[in-house]
Amino acid sequence: MRFLLIGDVIGRTGRRAVSTLLPSIKKEYDVDFVVLNGENLAHGNGINQKVFNEVVSSGVDVITSGNHTFDKKEVLPILDTDPRLLRPANLPPMAKGRGFGVYEKNGKKILVINLMGRVFIGIPLDCPFRKFDDIYQEFKDKVDYIIVDFHGEATSEKQAFGFYVDGRATIVFGTHTHVQTSDERFLPKGTVFITDVGMTGPLDSVIGMRKDEIIQKFITGMPQKYEPAEGRFIFNALFFDAESGVIKRISILEQSGRI
Ligand SMILES: [Fe+2]
Ligand SMILES: [Fe+2]
Repeated sequence: MRFLLIGDVIGRTGRRAVSTLLPSIKKEYDVDFVVLNGENLAHGNGINQKVFNEVVSSGVDVITSGNHTFDKKEVLPILDTDPRLLRPANLPPMAKGRGFGVYEKNGKKILVINLMGRVFIGIPLDCPFRKFDDIYQEFKDKVDYIIVDFHGEATSEKQAFGFYVDGRATIVFGTHTHVQTSDERFLPKGTVFITDVGMTGPLDSVIGMRKDEIIQKFITGMPQKYEPAEGRFIFNALFFDAESGVIKRISILEQSGRI
């Protein structure tokens, strides 16, 4: 089974990167299963039916999310009806939607769990470590692979989580910071880990947003309206082949070829 994990996809430019590159990357790497974090798909924040359909039709199997899941109310009916969309599992139990799902591909069962860190996030959340334990206990003998999108700000929390689930999860990929880290590896007990897979979106931006407004915010201390940037994109992802054990971090800049 060959997996491709894509982090936060930002607005129109990020969607353009996905529709431009994902079909050929899937072909080149013979990818079986794609997970993509969609919290920033719709104009930089949130998810609606149009962008959900767009990304799914590019070849994505499961869309995870994070602190921006509910930014657009159009997400609610999708969360109600479509098991391919996940929100963090450690939100309060009364939250709409589901935080994990089991998906079948090539005769194998893949459990995808979406979790959110609690450090510097500012949302009341249950413990993601204990939430993983609960879900793992229920599904460990029923699935072939376990993939976790850990949506978090603090590198320390993501790394601690990776070691906590080492040997239990197949892959833990971090999302939310929008900047790719170069620490992809097998942890000692065999879990594939990356602290943050990075965003797919406008490269000449501050984590996906127009840089001018962000600079103004920093130099004046006054609130600004943030808009997603446009222009050349960066496509970031992590590939893992469970049979051969190959882990490959992918980072492609538009107009600049592969690095
Ligand atoms: Fe994000
Ligand atoms: Fe986020």
